[in-house]
Amino acid sequence: MAQIGTDKQAAKGFLEAGNVVGIPTETVYGLAGNALNPDAILTIFRVKNRPSFDPLIVHTDSFAKLDQFVTDIPELARKLAKAFWPGPLTLLLPKRDLIPDLVTAGLPTVAVRIPNHPLTLDLLRSLAFPLAAPSANPFGYISPTTAQHVADQLGDQVPYILDGGPAGIGIESTIIGFENNVATVFRLGGMALEQIERVIGPVLVQTHSTSNPKAPGMLSSHYAPRKPLILLSAGTSPQPGERAGALVFREPFGGIQANHQRVLSPTGDLNEAAKNLFAHLRTLDTLPIDVIYAELLPNSGLGQAMNDRLRRASVQ
Ligand code: TXA
Ligand code: MG
Repeated sequence: MAQIGTDKQAAKGFLEAGNVVGIPTETVYGLAGNALNPDAILTIFRVKNRPSFDPLIVHTDSFAKLDQFVTDIPELARKLAKAFWPGPLTLLLPKRDLIPDLVTAGLPTVAVRIPNHPLTLDLLRSLAFPLAAPSANPFGYISPTTAQHVADQLGDQVPYILDGGPAGIGIESTIIGFENNVATVFRLGGMALEQIERVIGPVLVQTHSTSNPKAPGMLSSHYAPRKPLILLSAGTSPQPGERAGALVFREPFGGIQANHQRVLSPTGDLNEAAKNLFAHLRTLDTLPIDVIYAELLPNSGLGQAMNDRLRRASVQ
C-alpha cells in the first residue's frame, strides 16, 4: 500500500529510481515519473491503464528550463507563461528529441506547465529531470483532488503519495496550443478563458470530441463516475421510486432526499464549486443511489470547464 506523507526526500528517491509517485498540484493530483525515462513513462501508462495514444503533460519549475525541452516558444505562449505560471495552464510547444516520443504519443508537440504548489515546486527544483504527470486516476474516472483519493484508487501500485492537502483549484489545467500562430484551447480548465483572453485577445476553442482526439480529455465520455449521471435540465427529474442523488450548485433540488445531495457552493462562488466538484462526485458515487442528477453551472469563469466535465461525465 502507498505511504502518504510530506517527505520530499522520499518522493525524490522513488522518482530517481525510476518509480512513480503521487504529487499534489493546485489543479488535481498527478501520477508523476521521470519524463526523460521511458521505463518510468511506461509505468505511468500501466498504473493508470491509460491508452498509449494519450500524451502526458511535462511539469517543470522554471521558465528558463523550457529551452531544454522545446525548440520554440511563440510570443503568445511567452505572454501567457509570464502572466499565469506557475498556474493551471498547459502550453503545447514543439518538442526537442530529449522528450521521449512515448510522452507525446508521437506528436511533434509536448504539453508543458509549471504547477503552482509549493511542495511540488520544491520537489521539481531538487530533481535533475522534469516530471511527466497525468491526473492520478484510472483512465476515464474522476480526477483526484486529495492524497487519499489517489491512495483509494492507485494505492496498491504507487509506493509514495506526497500529501499537499486538498487541491486549491480542483479542476485540471486549461490546455492551449499555437498552430499557425493562432491560440487554440483544446481543454477548458482551471484557467478561465476570460483571463486568457484578457492577456492575448480572442482564442479559438476546439474541445469537441472526435474519434482521434488531440487531447483525450476531449473524449466524449471522460471524467465520469461509475453511476450514470444525468444533467438536471428542464424536463429531467427523478422517476418515482428511483434511488437518486444530486450534485447541485447553490441549493438542494426539490425532488431528492437531502442527504443524497451535494451542494457545490451555497454562496454561488464558482471557484469554491470547482474546488468541490470532483470530491462531491466521488462521494455521490459511493452513496446508496442508482443515478446521479447534476445541475449545470453558470457558463462563465470556471463554470465553463465544470460544465464541460459534467457533459462528458453524462455520456455513457
Ligand atoms: O492539471 C493538469 O493538467 C493535471 C495535473 C496533474 O497537472 N494533469 C492532467 O493530465 O490533467 P492528464 O494526462 O489527465 O490530461 C492531460 C491532457 C490529455 O487530455 C492529453 O491528451 C493532453 O493533455 N495532451 C498532452 N500532450 C498533448 C499534446 N502534445 N497535444 C495535445 N494534447 C495533449
Ligand atoms: Mg486526466
